[in-house]
Amino acid sequence: MKFQFPKGFYWGAATSAHQVEGGNHNDWSEWEKENAERLAKEAEKKFSHLKNWQEIKEQAQNPQNYISGRACDHYNRFEEDFDIAKSLSHNVHRFSIEWSRIEPEEGKFNEIEIEHYRNVIKALRGRDIEPFVTLWHWTIPIWMRDKGGVINKYFPNYFSRYAERMAQELPDVKFWITLNEPTAVISMAYGIGEWPPQRRNPLAALKVYKTLARSHNDAFKKIHTVSPKANVGFVNILSFIEPYKKNSILDKLTARITKYFSNEKFLNLTKWNHDFLAVDYYFHNRLQFPGKMKNENKKVSDMGWELYPEGIYYVLKDLKKCEKPIYITENGLADAGDIHREWFIKETLKNVYKAIQEGVDVRGYFYWSLLDNFEWDKGFWPRFGLVEIDYKTMERKIRPSAYEYAKIIKNNGF
Ligand code: FCB
Repeated sequence: MKFQFPKGFYWGAATSAHQVEGGNHNDWSEWEKENAERLAKEAEKKFSHLKNWQEIKEQAQNPQNYISGRACDHYNRFEEDFDIAKSLSHNVHRFSIEWSRIEPEEGKFNEIEIEHYRNVIKALRGRDIEPFVTLWHWTIPIWMRDKGGVINKYFPNYFSRYAERMAQELPDVKFWITLNEPTAVISMAYGIGEWPPQRRNPLAALKVYKTLARSHNDAFKKIHTVSPKANVGFVNILSFIEPYKKNSILDKLTARITKYFSNEKFLNLTKWNHDFLAVDYYFHNRLQFPGKMKNENKKVSDMGWELYPEGIYYVLKDLKKCEKPIYITENGLADAGDIHREWFIKETLKNVYKAIQEGVDVRGYFYWSLLDNFEWDKGFWPRFGLVEIDYKTMERKIRPSAYEYAKIIKNNGF
C-alpha cells in the first residue's frame, strides 16, 4: 500500500442539523420562507453559466427548492443512516445539535429534544462510531435572532450557557466542536450580505469576529469545567490562498490581507483555547489585486467550485506550528453524477498523507457529507452525499464512490 495512514486514524463523514434533520424552526427556516421566491428568480443570473444548468434549471427556479422543510428526515431516520455509515466502515461521525430545538424559548430547555440527541449518540456508540458533536452549525433560535443574533454583545453568554448545559447532559462526549466556520458566517452574512440577517457592513463584520471568538472562548472554558477531559475546538474553514502573480507586490499584498482575515484572525482571537484544530477545506483562491479570483478551474464541481485537492497540503503545513492534533472535519464536492468524487477523495488524501509524512499531526478525515442535503441559500440541487437521497420517497442509495471510500477505510490507506 502506497498511502498507509497512522494507526487509529478516524474516518467518517459529517452532517449538520439544519441541513439534514427536517422540521426545524430557527432564523434560517424563517429566512427561507421570506426569500424563496427571490432566490428562485435570481437563479438564472447566478447559475446559468454552470455546465449543468440544463439539469438543475427546473429545480433552481422553483421556490420550493429554497425551503429546507423535511430535508432528509434524518431526525426520524438517523438509525438507518448510521447503519449505512457503519456498513461503509466509518468509525467516526460529525453531526450538530440544533440549538433551537434544545432551547426554543429563552432559558427553557426541552428535555425531549435533549433525549433525542442522547439517543443519537447512543446509536453511534452502539455501532462503534465515535461522535464529534458540533454545538453551533449556523442556525439560531428565533428568540436569539430577535435580540440581533451573533452581533449581540451578550450572544457569548447565551451560547456558552447552552454549551455548558449540553456538556452536563451529554457527559460522555469526547469531542466537542463549539462553532462551525465562524468566518464563513462573518463574510456571507455581514461581509457580502447574502445570508441571514443580510447585513452588509464591514464594521458589523469586525464586531462579529469578537462576539463569536468570545463565544468559543467562554464555551471552551465552561465545557472544560463540566468535563475536564473533553477535547474542545472550533471548526475553521481554511482556504489555500496565493497571489496570482508570484512576483507582483500588489497581488502578494492582496493574498496576505485575505489570508489574515479568512485564515488567521479568528485563530489568533481564540489562541489558547483549543485542544485540537479542526479544518474544513473547500477553496483555493488565486488572487489578483484588488481581489479578483484568477483560478485555473481545470476541474470544477456541479456548483462551479474549483476542485483543487492539492491545496489541503499547504493549509495543513501552515498549521504545523500550532502543535495540536488536527482533524479535517469537512471536505467534499457537489457531484450529482458521482464522476469526480472518488478521484477527489483520493487526491485529497494523498495530500493529507504527504503532510503527515512531513510531521503534521492529522488524526482524522470527515467527508462532507454522509447524505445529500439542503445546501443553505442554494437549496437541494447540490449533491454532496456519499449517499444519494430521493427527496420524494426519502429512499437512500449508496453512491459508487462511497464504496471506494469504504475500501480505503478498511485498509487504513490505499
Ligand atoms: C461548509 C458548511 C457545510 C456545507 C458545506 C458545503 O462550508 O460548513 O454546512 O454547506 O460547506
